[in-house]
Amino acid sequence: MSLSMYKAWLNVQLIEDKERREAYASLLGQVSVECKPTLVLQTALKELQQGIQALLGIAASVKEGSASRAEEENAGGLRIRLCPEANTQGERSQREDGFELQYMQAANGNEAIYLIGGSDKGIMYGVFHLLRMVASGKRAAELNTKESPANELRMINQWDNADGTIERGYAGRSIFYGNGRIASDLGRIRDYARLLASIGLNAISINNVNVHELETRFITEEQLPEVARLADLFRAYGIALFLSVNFAAPLQLGERNTADPLDAGVQSWWKDTAARIYSHIPDFGGFVVKADSEHRPGPFTYGRDHADGANMLAEALADYSGLVIWRCFVYDCMQDWRDRKTDRARAAYDHFKPLDGRFRSNVLLQIKNGPMDFQVREPVSPLIGALKETNQMVEFQITQEYTGQQRHLCYLVPQWKQVLDFDSYAQGEGSQVKRIADGSLYGTAHSGIAAVSNIGDEESWTGHILAQANFYGYGRLVWNPELTAEQIALEWAAATFGYNPTVTTVIIGMLMKSWAIYEAYTAPLGVGWMVAPNHHYGPDVDGYEYSRWGTYHFADRDGIGVDRTQASGTGYTSQYSEPNASLYENAATCPDELLLFFHHVPYTHILQSGKTVIQHIYDTHFGGADEAERLREQWAELEGQIDEASFVHVAERLAEQAEHAKHWRDVINTYFFRKSGIPDADGRVIY
Ligand code: GCU
Repeated sequence: MSLSMYKAWLNVQLIEDKERREAYASLLGQVSVECKPTLVLQTALKELQQGIQALLGIAASVKEGSASRAEEENAGGLRIRLCPEANTQGERSQREDGFELQYMQAANGNEAIYLIGGSDKGIMYGVFHLLRMVASGKRAAELNTKESPANELRMINQWDNADGTIERGYAGRSIFYGNGRIASDLGRIRDYARLLASIGLNAISINNVNVHELETRFITEEQLPEVARLADLFRAYGIALFLSVNFAAPLQLGERNTADPLDAGVQSWWKDTAARIYSHIPDFGGFVVKADSEHRPGPFTYGRDHADGANMLAEALADYSGLVIWRCFVYDCMQDWRDRKTDRARAAYDHFKPLDGRFRSNVLLQIKNGPMDFQVREPVSPLIGALKETNQMVEFQITQEYTGQQRHLCYLVPQWKQVLDFDSYAQGEGSQVKRIADGSLYGTAHSGIAAVSNIGDEESWTGHILAQANFYGYGRLVWNPELTAEQIALEWAAATFGYNPTVTTVIIGMLMKSWAIYEAYTAPLGVGWMVAPNHHYGPDVDGYEYSRWGTYHFADRDGIGVDRTQASGTGYTSQYSEPNASLYENAATCPDELLLFFHHVPYTHILQSGKTVIQHIYDTHFGGADEAERLREQWAELEGQIDEASFVHVAERLAEQAEHAKHWRDVINTYFFRKSGIPDADGRVIY
């Protein structure tokens, strides 16, 4: 087994520089713990001891109990305590999850580091941070810092099924399930919990949002003891466990003859269910719900709306402080492609905006970052921010469903940053998405960010080892949206491959260009979708054109794009606050990269870049495929500088990507050349 692939960014190595190692040994060799030994604190201490052993080659001694005053003044070492101000009324949980590191030198010359947590979880995050800083070569005196996560809920959604498959999974089978049962070997899941905690994540839903027959039973007496074993494991890492539930569970389990949320029998069924769950898992996080979406059952069947549905579940969980995370991915997936008025992009806003203010305080609406479905480029969903009296969460997709399926390199942190930095103007200037996610814009009771996981049971977790950067980056960004994508890439590359500047420079360069490269050789200018139906890998320009999914590009011999304007199209642009609405409404001001999302234009339309649409298509596709080839060459420079197994693994993926990018290039260019009859200005080969 190649350790770096499996250990991922926790691949801690002995510090080579002896002097530095010794300096740290005197500082970290003695740990005194001055707070109650809770479960999470024990995890933190175990991580600390393991980390010190790996970095410094010494066994740290851990002493419990407070020091006397005299000892206190001169004592060195690492001193762990709780912040006395934490847990006072009105503190948000973000503060509790925070920590402070203080370096001090006593009068007698002893050096000490104080790690002060807002809670035991804060201490644990502080330990992971400290180890990362030491590994990265920071000197003791440079360790001073105060950190707390920006977001309350920092969540991962597994799309794993009980049969061991993973919906949109590209890294093997589920680590959670096999043959309809929860895994009996929990070792791998524990290692996953460590990875999550090390980047500050604090919530996980463990099953697919599409809840099938087997997973519907996870909330029954028969399955709950098994689910509770997983909850126990995640609890030790400060991670709350959630379940995706089937809205029609009372009906499908044969215990009620309806799932109508206003039916008293159904309401009491969910109350009993909640009581049962909490008797097994006292700190159960709550439910994630996909209802009335892609054939999943929901309140519409009974003529009720989503507030009725979500509130009914929320009421059942309220006594236990449980949350209902209700997804807004609701649209008509049986659309007639001939119908040009219905616009899938409008759906989330049209469904949920009228319900603003009607949801209970323990409901959060989870909104995908874009209005369609995790395409390589979409505008930010206009629903984010439009809900002013409703708790909301942003949903990202780490698993690369539409972005190369972990066979292509596509570092998504820059995309997520763009979303978080986007100003919705919902409350005037300064209403960035990150302020909606962190709850500060509206002062909502709950908020946060969730993302669909990209891991499976392959040794590298993510199939493509470089796709680990997306997982790591997600956690770090959700902790602190102000980090830059480069900083995160550097941290990740160094923690994974070691602190070798040649290696990290090449990897950061590759990661930072990868999203643009992928975008260049796939669907142009924000129009999306030109992928093969069902599995979504590879080009098929008309794959979704005459389908029922509401996903069209409308290319004909004269032009391409979807008219979503108020003036002549679907009126989608009006869902944005000004000045965004006007910016998108007007083809002259609409950003080039989103032009075809908002407008239908002739191929000869001149972009802000000065190029025609058709020439842009040709240039980006030739250029993107060339750049994909260059990624291969850059990686080749690292031969001999990183472990052989990782080197070969990535080289193989990049070779596939380069070949496949040429296929994309030729399919897209040929399609548009044949449609438009307009030749490439540079006379390159088009078929
Ligand atoms: C996409 C994806 C589905 C998934 C759905 C969702 O449509 O292809 O597999 O179930 O999103 O987010 O619910």
